[in-house]
Amino acid sequence: MKNRIHNFNAGPAALPLPVLEEIQAELLDFKGSGMSIMEVSHRSKWFDDVINETVERINRLMGLGDDFQVLFLQGGASTQFALVPMNLLPEGQSADYVNTGTWSTKAIKEAQAMGKTVNVAASSEDRNFCYIPKDIPLDPNAAYVHITSNNTIKGTAYTDFPDAGNVPLIADMSSDIMSRPMDASKFGLIYAGAQKNLGPAGVCVVIIRKDMLERVPESLPSMFKYTTFAGKNSMYNTPPCFAIYTVGLVVKWIEETIGGLEKMEARNRKKADTLYSIFDSSDFYSGTADKDSRSMMNVTFRLPSEDLEKAFVAQALENGLGGLKGHRSVGGCRASIYNPTSQEGVEALVDFMKEFEKKNG
Ligand SMILES: Cc1ncc(COP(=O)(O)O)c(C=O)c1O
Repeated sequence: MKNRIHNFNAGPAALPLPVLEEIQAELLDFKGSGMSIMEVSHRSKWFDDVINETVERINRLMGLGDDFQVLFLQGGASTQFALVPMNLLPEGQSADYVNTGTWSTKAIKEAQAMGKTVNVAASSEDRNFCYIPKDIPLDPNAAYVHITSNNTIKGTAYTDFPDAGNVPLIADMSSDIMSRPMDASKFGLIYAGAQKNLGPAGVCVVIIRKDMLERVPESLPSMFKYTTFAGKNSMYNTPPCFAIYTVGLVVKWIEETIGGLEKMEARNRKKADTLYSIFDSSDFYSGTADKDSRSMMNVTFRLPSEDLEKAFVAQALENGLGGLKGHRSVGGCRASIYNPTSQEGVEALVDFMKEFEKKNG
């Protein structure tokens, strides 16, 4: 479509064009209501159908079954850094955390800030978080094991999740949720800010195994308790209706247009292989993540100098390729290629990278 760029932003990020078009088509009159979805009551049949269909699709796509409940919360993934230990780490117990970058570090800090006992079971800080630790020594008595499944800033991701035995895994999946199929049964809780793979900013999808709800202390304020939202289908207070509606359209796109998570993974894998192949054949671009820890979602790389990186980002944008600047904390370049990003977009980027190398290499 004219004027739309190939968007490699890390989040908020690209949305599928058919989703944006559907939003546009029903913006002024949502399903004959004569109102937009932003204007109907969250207690109406219209919104009830939206939230229930969205939950059902997430359930189906992720194969969750009856043991799990899907919640839509506010405060972003960052609020979960505090809510997880507040709700699920009882006094007198400790939790294992694996530190694989900025977001895990924040999750650890938030748990510690509440006086909780955190055991950093493994960390990749020794090499600036460029890899995912293996053979992690986990405590069989831990309340849970917290991981960040995909490290948005450092460009690394787990291929296999740690084997925590009977200890529930808790994962921040903000930047790779629903990018591939996974076995949910290992997880006690999964959370993801929607603004990368699932929709717009403003809603955090939380998938909680129902038995975890038994841990929630009665004494917490209502808005901080998972039980509050689990008991009210995420509608204890006014939910972020528009964001949930958009998540609903994105998961519909994954299910009906893409054909489910296996197909989603094949598409994502092809995009990532296309992009990473350039690092394996060029000395000009160097990937910053170890090969066996490379993320399928965030491809981080450096050019020979910071001046070249600046020129690269600027000229890419002039060529309709946006959002390629690395996170401000690490510099360099990053192409985020979440679910909605197309193969065509990735190929346009690779062509540009080859041209840029020819001129500047
Ligand atoms: C892996 C990960 N966790 C947490 C966050 C923070 O999310 P939010 O801005 O929704 O609080 C981000 C944001 O980029 C992220 O990439």
